[in-house]
Amino acid sequence: MKAEKAPLPRILVLASGSGTNVQALIDATRERDFPGRIVAVGSNRPKAFALERAAQANIETFVVDHTQYDSREAFDAALMAEIRRYNPDVLLLAGFMRILTDDFVRAFRGILLNIHPSLLPKYTGLNTHQRALEAGDPVHGTSVHFVTEELDGGPVIAQAEVKVSLEDTPESLAEKVKAKEHILYPIVVRWFCEGRIQLGSDYILFDGELLKAPLRLTDD
Ligand code: GRF
Repeated sequence: MKAEKAPLPRILVLASGSGTNVQALIDATRERDFPGRIVAVGSNRPKAFALERAAQANIETFVVDHTQYDSREAFDAALMAEIRRYNPDVLLLAGFMRILTDDFVRAFRGILLNIHPSLLPKYTGLNTHQRALEAGDPVHGTSVHFVTEELDGGPVIAQAEVKVSLEDTPESLAEKVKAKEHILYPIVVRWFCEGRIQLGSDYILFDGELLKAPLRLTDD
């Protein structure tokens, strides 16, 4: 008798912009052995190119346009309702440019991940590349973290570094960081889908062990 295969974890991605990270996730999840599948890509911006990328890959898309809602609470409630239709096991923020309410974050606690373009806890918020340059940091990078009520403050799962050179501008640094993000995010999502990463009260378990420091993807 043939053993029944367990259904793959259902991944839903939220994005507001060009969606290069969405593309990297689409490409990775298309690989035959990837332990999860993207069931939908959602956006708050009807024109986000991320939606185009998903449509090209025959992935369902939806829009919850924040300009149509009077409050953050109303927008988040509508977004939550839309997300629930897809019953995701993994909810990924990939350049999703809205601050989410505590209710939203709590509703998806433990399955909600974000990628942030800095080596957290450095440079939460915006303009991270500019700030790293102004500070003269020799090393910059990106972090994948669990989303909690604290903005860009949830436990960090993994990070990738880039070397900053004297010639770097915010734009060139952003490109270098994105190239790393396209490698890092799919790796972390793979681990998550394999059940290797779990969020505790304020800590992460990796393969059942306490993660003492974020995992690092290095250049070598
Ligand atoms: C990425 O740099 C990500 O870290 C940040 O927003 C950017 C999104 O870029 N949260 P893209 O739309 O995936 O190209």
